[in-house]
Amino acid sequence: MTEPTYRVAFVCLGNICRSPMAEVVVRDLLADAGLGGRVTVFSRGTGDYHEGEDAHARTLEVLRARGHAPRHAARQIRRDELASTDLVLALDRMNERDLRKLARTDAERAKVRLFRSFDPAAPRHDVEIPDPWGKPLDAFEHVYDLCAAAGRGLVAWLEAEALPAWSAALGRG
Ligand code: 4NP
Repeated sequence: MTEPTYRVAFVCLGNICRSPMAEVVVRDLLADAGLGGRVTVFSRGTGDYHEGEDAHARTLEVLRARGHAPRHAARQIRRDELASTDLVLALDRMNERDLRKLARTDAERAKVRLFRSFDPAAPRHDVEIPDPWGKPLDAFEHVYDLCAAAGRGLVAWLEAEALPAWSAALGRG
C-alpha cells in the first residue's frame, strides 16, 4: 500500500507563469530535504484560459537556467480538489479571494494561505508574488527568487510543524 502524502497546491490565475514555477522549485527543495516522498505538490489556475498548455516560455527558460527540469500541463482548480488538499497556497491576494469563494466549508477556507507569507523576510504589507505575464524575463527571474525564498520557509515549516502534526493526526506520529 502506498503511504498517504501531505498535499500542497500552488494556485495562480493562469497556471502557466507563477504557480508552475512555485511547484517545481518547492518539489526540488523537498527532494533536497529528503521529504520528496512525504509531500505531493501540484499547481492549478483559478482561470481556465490556458487549460492543457505548457508553462510560459519565460517560466521554462528561468527554471531550466536554474537547473530544474519542468514538465507541465495547465489546469484549472476544481472545487472538489480543495477537500483532498491539505494546504492551498495562493500566489496573490486575488487568487486567495477566488479560492476562498470556491471553498465550501470553513475547514476548506482555512487551508488557503498566501505562499509568500512563508518567507520570513517578506514585508508584512507585501506578501504577493506579482503576475509577470506580458513582462520581460527579469520579471520572471524575480518571481523565481520570491518562490525560492518562500519555498525555503515553507519547507522548514512543513518539516518542523505541519508534517509532524499531520502524521500524529493520522496515527503515524
Ligand atoms: P499566471 O500568469 O497567473 O502567473 O499563470 C498569467 C497567465 C495568463 C493570464 C494571466 C496571468 N491570462 O490572462 O491569460
